[in-house]
Amino acid sequence: MIPEIYQAAPGRYDKMSYKHCGHSGLQLPLISLGLWHNFGSVDRYENFNAIARTAFDRGITHFDLANNYGPVYGSAETNFGRILRDGLGAYRDELVISTKAGYDMWPGPYGNWGSRKYLFASLNQSLRRMGLDYVDIFYHHRPDPDTPLEETMGALSDIVRQGKALYVGISNYRPAEARKAIALLRRNGTPCLIHQARYSMFDRWVEPELLPLLDQQGVGLIAFSPLAQGMLTDKYIHGIPEDSRAARSTGHLQRSQITPEKVEIIKRLNAFAADRGQTLAEMALAWLLADRRVTSVLIGASSVPQLEDNLKALDSAPFTAAEREAIERILAGE
Ligand SMILES: NC(=O)c1ccc[n+]([C@@H]2O[C@H](COP(=O)([O-])OP(=O)(O)OC[C@H]3O[C@@H](n4cnc5c(N)ncnc54)[C@H](OP(=O)(O)O)[C@@H]3O)[C@@H](O)[C@H]2O)c1
Repeated sequence: MIPEIYQAAPGRYDKMSYKHCGHSGLQLPLISLGLWHNFGSVDRYENFNAIARTAFDRGITHFDLANNYGPVYGSAETNFGRILRDGLGAYRDELVISTKAGYDMWPGPYGNWGSRKYLFASLNQSLRRMGLDYVDIFYHHRPDPDTPLEETMGALSDIVRQGKALYVGISNYRPAEARKAIALLRRNGTPCLIHQARYSMFDRWVEPELLPLLDQQGVGLIAFSPLAQGMLTDKYIHGIPEDSRAARSTGHLQRSQITPEKVEIIKRLNAFAADRGQTLAEMALAWLLADRRVTSVLIGASSVPQLEDNLKALDSAPFTAAEREAIERILAGE
């Protein structure tokens, strides 16, 4: 089948806002799209190609991958390569593409964690799968307690010097580890651009130490799973729908995470969002974006309408102090 010719929407930059990522020249859209779920070999090309194209047409310039996104491992990158070949790739210079290595990818001692051996091999594989000469951001996906941080950060720095990545970042690093990694990368002359961390109304671990540290160090923060994998939407209010991430055997959200107590909180948040004239998904994203230290929220979407709903967060009214307090009370189960 000959793919239809893709022409990006002329007004794609009209409604999105872009923010410098920490103390760097690179600007990221307030909303970025992640390919962890919904872009694997178990998913439908027509659907995820439409999601990617709609995202770009609406100003989402940043697409986030990792070596093992799928399933099967590697298939999200292979599929993204196809999306690029089928049209989006004509806009390569308008795209910020990231990938990562750090989790389990291939058998044996060189397909996991943080050695120089693994990071170089993995990025070379990722570039081949996507059909790219370089990625914009390469991340170490999680800290490795058994490899010297100097080795892992040295590999990231050399990858930049080789031109295989323009910038580097870290993900899932706790504050003390992040501080050391940031110092090493700065010493190497390849500053840490960004930290990718789980952050949502339901998961606030970054707030006490990590956010202030990144702010002080001039490193951006991109918040992953900002909808708590779909829990911060109206999806689970009346049970677990069959087509949801929690119901799919390939999804990372467990049914057991959707407890009656959580559903009660979700219902109250949903009603609160409705009073503000928005969906819970919109409110949950706007709530994160209200913090100036959050560079971008990194969403997932299993359909174009979900993506469109999430984009409305950009038009959200600001939160009053009273609304913020009310949300905190709901989250605390009061
Ligand atoms: N660095 C890391 O370790 C790490 C870890 C996890 C994720 N990430 C990155 O973060 C990205 C996003 O993570 P995530 O997918 O967990 O993010 P998320 O935005 O919290 O969850 C996305 C899921 O929520 C549901 N959803 C989204 N919008 C909706 C809406 N408007 N209404 C109803 N349901 C909606 C969909 O699930 P259904 O399938 O149920 O429709 C969608 O796939 C990943 O793709 C990846 O790039 C990074």
